[in-house]
Amino acid sequence: MTAGDSSPFPRFPAGFTFGAATASYQIEGAAHEDGRGPSIWDTYCREPGRIADGTSGDVACDHYHRYPEDIALLRDLGVDSYRFSIAWPRVQPTGDGPPNAAGLDFYDRLVDALLDAGIAPAATLYHWDLPQALEDVGGWRVRATAERFAAYTAHVAARLGDRVPRWITLNEPFCTAFVGHAIGRHAPGTREGSAALAVAHHLLLGHGLATRVLRETTGGEIGVTLNPDRLLPATDTPADRAATDRAETLHNRVFLDPLFAGRYPDNEADTWGELAADPTWRHDGDLDVIGTPLDLVGINYYRPITIAAAPHTDPDPATRTAVDIRAIETWQGDVRHTAMGWPVVPATFTDLLTDLARRYPAMPPVHITENGSAEDDTVAPDGQVHDADRVAYLDGHLHALADAMAQGVDVRGYYVWSLLDNFEWGFGYAKRFGIVRVDYDTLERLPKDSYHWYRALLADHRARTGGAAAGDGPTPPGAGR
Ligand code: FCB
Repeated sequence: MTAGDSSPFPRFPAGFTFGAATASYQIEGAAHEDGRGPSIWDTYCREPGRIADGTSGDVACDHYHRYPEDIALLRDLGVDSYRFSIAWPRVQPTGDGPPNAAGLDFYDRLVDALLDAGIAPAATLYHWDLPQALEDVGGWRVRATAERFAAYTAHVAARLGDRVPRWITLNEPFCTAFVGHAIGRHAPGTREGSAALAVAHHLLLGHGLATRVLRETTGGEIGVTLNPDRLLPATDTPADRAATDRAETLHNRVFLDPLFAGRYPDNEADTWGELAADPTWRHDGDLDVIGTPLDLVGINYYRPITIAAAPHTDPDPATRTAVDIRAIETWQGDVRHTAMGWPVVPATFTDLLTDLARRYPAMPPVHITENGSAEDDTVAPDGQVHDADRVAYLDGHLHALADAMAQGVDVRGYYVWSLLDNFEWGFGYAKRFGIVRVDYDTLERLPKDSYHWYRALLADHRARTGGAAAGDGPTPPGAGR
């Protein structure tokens, strides 16, 4: 691909980071190797009916053993950076105590292999695989887990902090807190009403404590990844608009306000009612810790959500979190929906980003840490995966991102979700998000058309901006290598 005005690709500035993302439980497998302890996802997957196809991450993509092959794919793709997550139960099998050397050794090998390939590691410290032993003593419901998270972070930073230039503390605390503890569709799979608010708070506190540890011990950039939703009322009625305001607090403001505005949402009583009345788990000084300055905010974006008012159907205040809000994932207009049933409306990505930048002027520069689509891919008779719908999705969203930047939003990077087809949580292996297909019988990797398309986009970007190809190398913090 040559650079020029006829290029079909959106334009990004020189120095913009392009990457691909994965997460430990979704790809690593090797669930019982080298001293890894059980996580809440190991437990959850074994509970009947939790995972659509009855599977688990026990083997997944076997990335734990095949990481050199996966790094070769990243290198050939030409990405600047790779976002992966570190499994806490590999580093501390029970979430406490001294580190498990074999677990840290794996990430040490991974980081070195990435750097050797000229790819900047972007490490997420928590992508949902809490050590089961911590869940057994209260999990994120208790403050001690935030402190344990900071101690785990210190072990990881001591080993990898000299070589990892970008750190993400948490991935999508909304999912941990509310999908995990209120809706009950992620591990630990409970419906606990007000306890989910305490979980959200302890996640934020853990994030702040971990940020301080990283700041003291590493030279890398530090951020947190959120999944702020673009929420739109189903109708213009006062009831639907009020429900959307409550949903905005439930999904977004509960994290964004403490992180970037130094306050808890002023309308939380409207959202939570009596559930928020007695937050004894909030201590003086917590907001200062949570608001510790960051270098970046990671944003994961997939689709808009329509919100309608719905009557309370659950009379029990202990379990009735937000059941007066109905989230609708189909779109009223004529748009395509992905294999997840999610509407493809790229302009909502632009709107989300410009809206966040306007509402949170203190928000740090943005990295899009996930964006992609699940499609019903098949291998064609020619042996290739012609995933034109995924290419159209990525193209639309990258143009929408460029539009947001043209409107002044400070975005520094974009990571496609995902490098590989993988274990998609409650959907098991049925939903394929990869730009590389994984054959789950043979574990063979097959780059899809979207991989080749993204590779061409990156080559076009480098040709326009004079950037280095992968292999020419980012410079890690404290680089003596
Ligand atoms: C996000 C998760 C990621 C993946 C995508 C599809 O919510 O962070 O692990 O499952 O959705």
